[in-house]
Amino acid sequence: MPYGAPRTVRDHVLFVERRLKAAHVALGHGTGDVRDEAAWLVSGAMGIAPGALTRHLASVPGRAITARIRALLASRIRTRQPLAYLLGEAWFAGRRYIVDPRVIVPRSLIGEFLPEGGGSPLADPDITSILDLCTGSGAIAIAAARAFPKAQVDAVDISEDALKVAVRNVRLHGMSGRVHPIASDLFSRLEGRRYDLIVSNPPYVSEAEMAELPREYRHEPTLALAGGTDGLDLVVPLLRRAREHLTADGRLVLEVGASRAALEARFPDQAFLWLASLADECVGYWHRQDLEDWAGD
Ligand SMILES: C[S@@+](CC[C@H](N)C(=O)[O-])C[C@H]1O[C@@H](n2cnc3c(N)ncnc32)[C@H](O)[C@@H]1O
Repeated sequence: MPYGAPRTVRDHVLFVERRLKAAHVALGHGTGDVRDEAAWLVSGAMGIAPGALTRHLASVPGRAITARIRALLASRIRTRQPLAYLLGEAWFAGRRYIVDPRVIVPRSLIGEFLPEGGGSPLADPDITSILDLCTGSGAIAIAAARAFPKAQVDAVDISEDALKVAVRNVRLHGMSGRVHPIASDLFSRLEGRRYDLIVSNPPYVSEAEMAELPREYRHEPTLALAGGTDGLDLVVPLLRRAREHLTADGRLVLEVGASRAALEARFPDQAFLWLASLADECVGYWHRQDLEDWAGD
């Protein structure tokens, strides 16, 4: 460039970046930076993974790709849909997942603790049973299956619609033999089942935060976000009941987002252990014994 129409892939990325910035789009659905969002949009239009884009920066896209970039940019700005929905894909823990507005765009910090090929700090590498409660697209369940290769994983959600997306992702990732989507309101259909590890990213957005959400977030299912007055409507029952579903040495890993402050304020006598992640400290970690005090109502 800098004057005239974008020519190379690099020009297109910079052009899209400027337009997105000028339109004040809200981020947070897979990117936290406008340059990254622009690169993802261009790579999506080209049909390649965002990580592969650097190899193509000097190439000149043809008319069809250029038209797709323009169309995606226009929809992103006009509709304020997350780019993930426009592309039908999200990237989580380095892998591609199918998404649509039946599920939130996966972005849980729990992904950081599920490295592929072992080395997860969450549990013994040889554990055999995992529950991903509130699974949505199934991304955490599938990442957990990769991080713990000997484990069978139950992927639970109350939303039949979300589970349809999870089923597609399980197939996409060749995990049908290890990841099992189940419809259940929290633990209600899991009677008698115990797990070495429970991971969960439940809805935890408070009423006040829901009212302030940018338009992008309003395209996501309310059921996936809204956690009641203080965000704790599901978090607290989950903490109270998790113990019944953990093996003797089992662990619970629960993301609570900004409702962490409300949780600590409501239970000032509880000791909390928050895992340090790159973005925030809002993923709690409990051994089964730590959950004694939470049992009951
Ligand atoms: C924050 S989303 C998390 C989705 C996915 N784990 C992720 O990180 O991308 C919360 C999910 O919880 C599900 N959910 C809401 N209430 C539930 C309940 N009572 N029992 C089970 N799942 C529930 C929603 O349908 C939604 O898919």
